Amino acid sequence: MFYRPGEPHGLPHDPFNALVVPRPIGWISSLDAAGRANLAPYSFFNAVAYHPPQVVFAGTGAHAEGGLKDSVANIEASGAFVCNVASAALAGAMNLTSAPAPRAVDEFELAGLTKAPSRLVAPPRVAESPAQLECRLVRIVELETSDPVAAPNRLVIGRVVGIHIDDDVLVEGRVDIARLAPLARLGYRDYAPVREVFEMTRPSWQTAE
Ligand SMILES: Cc1cc2nc3c(=O)[nH]c(=O)nc-3n(C[C@H](O)[C@H](O)[C@H](O)COP(=O)(O)O)c2cc1C
Repeated sequence: MFYRPGEPHGLPHDPFNALVVPRPIGWISSLDAAGRANLAPYSFFNAVAYHPPQVVFAGTGAHAEGGLKDSVANIEASGAFVCNVASAALAGAMNLTSAPAPRAVDEFELAGLTKAPSRLVAPPRVAESPAQLECRLVRIVELETSDPVAAPNRLVIGRVVGIHIDDDVLVEGRVDIARLAPLARLGYRDYAPVREVFEMTRPSWQTAE
């Protein structure tokens, strides 16, 4: 089959996000102007550079009360956020923090999560998460949208300034994926815990002689 986005595809659900998979989940904590904590999952999320390390996530669509989603608005105003790794064990709590809650709601409290202080930025970390990236805002990019009011799309770019790793996920100095057990977002309502790995060495270029 072939379809153009925006035109009928004839399927019961939009297949787009079932094709770009698996997506890591950036579980973003931030602070509003009054110092209230906010926490929400974003799977339009990834690492995009090493030197300096940078991550991106995209807020798509408006907050239930209108305007930008809390995470994007908070980061635009405060310039900092933390990206917490959502492990499979935290799937239920992560999902709770995606509720379209009123702006004033602290999703750490909503989901029964513990705040751990960050070292270099003001927003707290999720203590239960196995690893967290402290980030400073680089810039927010306005993405194309079909409706700038009802569906604003923003790409948030952050520079990672501090990294926390739970010692329990380190085995012989390497992050052990089975211990980290990150949760991957698939399409529809689907998720997958990442536990299995295999190793490959990248080829070096060899000239034929
Ligand atoms: C696994 C998962 C991934 C999500 N990914 C995104 C995303 O990439 N972008 C987005 O705008 N919303 C995403 N959402 C929905 C937001 O989490 C939801 O709109 C949340 O209420 C936003 O909270 P905030 O306004 O406090 O930032 C996702 C939800 C879940 C459960």
